[in-house]
Amino acid sequence: MTEAWRPDDEDERRGAFGPVRVRVPAKVNLHLGVGPLRRDGYHELNTVYHAISIYDELTARRGDTLALTMEGEGAGELALDDSNLIIRAAHALAGYAGVLPHARLHLRKQIPLAGGLAGGSADAAAALVACDALWGTGLSRDELAGIAADLGSDVPFLIYGGTALGTGRGEAVSPVLVRPTSWHWVVAIADVGLSTPAAYRELDRLRDAGTAGAPLGSTDALLGALRQRDPRVLARTLGNDLQDAALAMRPALADTLKAGEAAGALAGLVSGSGPTCVFLAADAASAERIAAELTSAGVCREARVAHGPVAGARVG
Ligand code: C5P
Repeated sequence: MTEAWRPDDEDERRGAFGPVRVRVPAKVNLHLGVGPLRRDGYHELNTVYHAISIYDELTARRGDTLALTMEGEGAGELALDDSNLIIRAAHALAGYAGVLPHARLHLRKQIPLAGGLAGGSADAAAALVACDALWGTGLSRDELAGIAADLGSDVPFLIYGGTALGTGRGEAVSPVLVRPTSWHWVVAIADVGLSTPAAYRELDRLRDAGTAGAPLGSTDALLGALRQRDPRVLARTLGNDLQDAALAMRPALADTLKAGEAAGALAGLVSGSGPTCVFLAADAASAERIAAELTSAGVCREARVAHGPVAGARVG
């Protein structure tokens, strides 16, 4: 009698028989230098991305159509139709690879919506990695990042993760040489999200009115700080040109930033286009204390601890 044939571990890992589970991190910008508005409606960026340990998880199974379900952050609010970046990513990969875009996808979301943590971009990156494994299309990370760039400026970074320099509109990513150190962060999540295009428009308005802060300079000091281990040195080099815009749109964020610093954070800044605020802590214990104080001070919906850098979208 012949034994029923079973997929081996390698087949499972590659997803030839599904399901494929992909974990993808959130990002913060340690430096977000925003240049002038370009003709294509984007701003020229000089940014340092950093992936942190708050994750979404996307599971992909074989199916006869393309379908998406979800649970967690934003369930009931986030559209699951063709406008969803996950569905757009699956179509983009299928078109590129010449396969049918058939999969049953399920998202378990922990990264808040419209939070400045690139949650939507993270999900798009996860969809590319998951469908590539499910369909056995076997693309390289660089090829996936090429498809990712058309889906959103932050998506290529989330394919790679770690700490990386972003230029162009943020889609041109190159790795940064860092010490193998883990930095400890506290992430203060707001009740209501902020629109990224609106934050960029507000920055343009503040700049036109001459009331924006001086733009950030080069990333040299930050890149130097990432090559050593002292978080106090790193704290002095963090910066975000979109912070003034986020504060103008949501003045209460100033209280969140103050509360984090009063609780012992070495530095606090708005993450990306906000409204999430992110704080650098001296160590893991200090991060726990700051998170507890931020929560009890009532200056955010929720404060979570995280560390970084972590890997980008990965199967497993
Ligand atoms: O690339 P992504 O779709 O994530 O960008 C969302 C919006 O954020 C853009 O439509 C644009 O308004 C703004 N943006 C920008 N400059 C960038 C990135 C994003 O103005 N470099």
